[in-house]
Amino acid sequence: METPADAIARHVVREGRAYQPGITLEAAMREHGLERIVKLSSNENPLGASPKAAEALKRLEHLSIYVDNDYHELREKLAAYVGVQAANVIVGHGSNELLELMFETFVEARERVVIARPTFSLFSLKARLREAEVVEVPLRAGVHDLQAMRERINANTKLVMICDPNNPTGTAVEPEAMERFAASLPPRVLLVLDQAYREFMPEPSVDGIALAMRRPNTLCYRTMSKAFGLAALRIGYAVGADDAIAYMQRVRLPFNVTRASVVAALAALDDREFVERSVATNAEGRAYLAREFERLGLFAFPSAANFIALQVPVPSDRAYHELLMHGIAVRSGDALGLPGYLRITVGTADENAAVVAALGELLERWRAPAGATP
Ligand SMILES: Cc1ncc(COP(=O)(O)O)c(C=O)c1O
Repeated sequence: METPADAIARHVVREGRAYQPGITLEAAMREHGLERIVKLSSNENPLGASPKAAEALKRLEHLSIYVDNDYHELREKLAAYVGVQAANVIVGHGSNELLELMFETFVEARERVVIARPTFSLFSLKARLREAEVVEVPLRAGVHDLQAMRERINANTKLVMICDPNNPTGTAVEPEAMERFAASLPPRVLLVLDQAYREFMPEPSVDGIALAMRRPNTLCYRTMSKAFGLAALRIGYAVGADDAIAYMQRVRLPFNVTRASVVAALAALDDREFVERSVATNAEGRAYLAREFERLGLFAFPSAANFIALQVPVPSDRAYHELLMHGIAVRSGDALGLPGYLRITVGTADENAAVVAALGELLERWRAPAGATP
């Protein structure tokens, strides 16, 4: 039955659906009667956040006063962190907000947007809301197929998006292939690199910031949600030429990042030791998981991020639910356009060992001949 809102909602909103995040700890425990959950479902930082950020939040003042809408200090500090000028940086309520803002700033209805499949679901969701023509190019061996993406770029194309490393596969694009691809693009095609997981990438990897500073109409997205562990505070940033950033500033809502987030972000940017520890913990855990998955006879895509896409011998949703019953929350590939896989965030050493132990137990059941009861 049509509701009154059905009759007035924009057709792209009626036909679309909301972004589906991973399960929250509270929901997992409530719905499944579990007392403890290892949460490896949303690629968060298993070490938490910098204690300096938490300390700074305790001293938070001026709650009744709007924050500096120019975000001068934060942009200066982020710019210094990545080696650009403040005019090249825009901050957002998570990098997610800046994706939306980029669509609103640059993409007209019916212009073509080229993305990979599967990739971060928000790309197509936001492009469709913008009424763009979305062209999804399948990954090749789990990696962006830059050649095929280039072939789909026509005179009507405004935007090509590269998620590097790609969510949900964790795979990275070769730096030289990226250079060739960028050089081959017509100047009016906006190239966006989402590098939310850049700090975790092994070298050599694509330096999206350098590319954004070299090629006009190129943006690189980064976030403090991952390596800095500030996902709850929603602080993302985009880097690009000052003219492109200035246009995005026109579209940005005033005061889009809260004072609390700014205060915590400034403190976290002073705590490089925390980021280094996060990156080292992740590299160790990622290597351990890759080794253990291989020992268990399971295929996983090589990951440059803080998560691993693991192939399982049963449907993804079943594997997801059975792991949840073992107190481990991951993401089902069915929800991410990667059926047959689980996306598992790299956790602490204990959490990683718990996943491996649970998978070891479950595999006996999954691999048992039909009818047998291991
Ligand atoms: C590729 C990618 N980009 C962006 C984000 C979200 O970043 P933020 O928390 O800054 O909005 C995620 C979150 O998981 C992601 O996987």
